[in-house]
This record gives sequence, structure tokens and C-alpha cells, in this order.
Amino acid sequence: MNWIEAAGIALRRPRMIANRARLMLQYGRFRRLRNDSLSRLTGASIAEADHFCGEVEHDRGFTADVRGRYREHVRYFPFPTDFMVAPDGSTMFFSCVALYALTRIVRPERIVETGGTPGKSSSFILRALERNGAGHLWTVDLAPPSADGRELNPCEGHSFTPHGLTSGWAIPSALLERHTVVSGDAREKLPPLLQSLGSIDIFIHDSDHSHEHMMWEFEVAFPYVRPGGVIWSDDILGNSAWPHFCRSHGLEQCDFTSQGAARKRESSFGR
Ligand SMILES: C[S@@+](CC[C@H](N)C(=O)[O-])C[C@H]1O[C@@H](n2cnc3c(N)ncnc32)[C@H](O)[C@@H]1O
Repeated sequence: MNWIEAAGIALRRPRMIANRARLMLQYGRFRRLRNDSLSRLTGASIAEADHFCGEVEHDRGFTADVRGRYREHVRYFPFPTDFMVAPDGSTMFFSCVALYALTRIVRPERIVETGGTPGKSSSFILRALERNGAGHLWTVDLAPPSADGRELNPCEGHSFTPHGLTSGWAIPSALLERHTVVSGDAREKLPPLLQSLGSIDIFIHDSDHSHEHMMWEFEVAFPYVRPGGVIWSDDILGNSAWPHFCRSHGLEQCDFTSQGAARKRESSFGR
């Protein structure tokens, strides 16, 4: 899609324009919320959290690479509003920026995430690891079914895999050195992966968002998160799994929009 096509579509859809205007108006508030959550979660200052968010938002080469992959395979046109967020958490990159900043602040050795297609979160985490000069990301992903040549809307990039591609197709190839994809169902692949790693710094859930599966992943992963490490969940607004989990482990929720984030107490062993 080019600028003329994109402008034509936007003008024919007044709701799309109103939605983008709303995103821009809300951006300052949500950006402050995100910085505040990152600061409470990690102990970094709000200025430091903001600095790292800005670092990747202005990383033109990297963001152009991810967006280029999107444009190649999905009916997508890049807008500045891609970095903004709606109150329900729907966004292209707002939460990925937070994961980038988290990774820059914590400087983890080992991160495990579930749910890796199209690969936006992986891309931002891997870019942060590259800048840290240390660390590795393992992504457990059951890739969605093939789109069989059908052109996808941007939001369908989570539900279908473009023809001939596989998990994490949006990730810039220059970043793959610090990445391992574990293909398959988290139910089968996550426990042995965690066992083999022993201890991890950060766990991120973004796979099957049913209450039952979220609870299962949180409980399976949490014993492997080192004391002082972070457990993070995408899409916490669809059910009560995240607050239930945090309450049952006495964790302080440092959430924002649809993102759940909590730090394991330094003194908690195994739970
Ligand atoms: C919301 S998308 C992940 C988006 C990704 N984190 C990103 O930022 O690009 C959810 C992904 O989880 C995968 N998935 C769903 N259920 C799964 C399961 N039980 N185990 C592993 N992956 C699963 C889906 O196929 C899809 O690729």
C-alpha cells in the first residue's frame, strides 16, 4: 500500500480518523502510565524508563526493518500512531516499546516468552539484547495456520502466518543470533525448556489467553523466575487470571493498559 491508497482508505473511514485522533490525545497520559509502571517494577527512575522508551522509538533503522517486513506480508501502512495505545491495550508497538525498555533496564541473561508470531515483541526484546551486548531470548510458539496466499490485515498477523513463512516472521534477520524459537504447544514445550534453563530473569506470556492457560503458564514459569526477576503478561483484561495469580503469590501489580507486570520478591524461594 502506498501513501495515496492509505489516504484514500483513511478518508473513506471517518471512524478510523477519529480513532487515530483519540490515540494521539491519550498518548501523553498512557506514556506516563507506562513509565510509572516500569519505574515501580524495576526501581529505575521515571526519566530512565522514558529514556529507553524514546531510544527505541527513535531507532529508525530498526523500526523501518520491522515495519518493512510487515509491509511485505500484510496490508499495513506505517503511521506514528502505531506507537500509541487505546485504553483496551490494542496497539501495534506501545507494549513492545515497554518490553524493550524493560530489557534495557534489567539487562537479563535469559528471557522466555510464549507466543511469537508475528514477532513484534521478540524483535523489540532482541534489539534491546543486542544493545545490551548480552542475553538470550527463547520463544515458545505454536505458529498460527497459514493464510494460504490471502492478504492479511495488520491485526490478522497474530492469527495467520503469511504463506511460506513461520514463527517470528517480522523479526529482522540481523537480530536472530540471540534468539531460539521452540516450535510447538507451550503445554508440551514450556516445562522442559524451563527445566533445561534452570533459572530465568524474565518470563512473558503472550500465547493462549484463556484463563486456564494463562494460570497454567504463570504457575509453571514462576518457580523458574529468579528472585528479583519479572513475570509479565500481555492481554490481562480478558479474564481475571493475572490478578488471581498475583494475589495468590502476594505480588505487587505494576500493570498498565492490557499489560501485567510484577516482580518476584528477592526473598521468595520457588513461589
Ligand atoms: C498474540 S500472538 C503473539 C504476538 C507476539 N508476541 C508478537 O508481539 O508479535 C499469540 C501467538 O501465540 C501462539 N499460540 C497460541 N496458543 C499457543 C500455545 N498453546 N502454545 C504456544 N503458542 C501458542 C499463536 O499461534 C500466536 O502465534
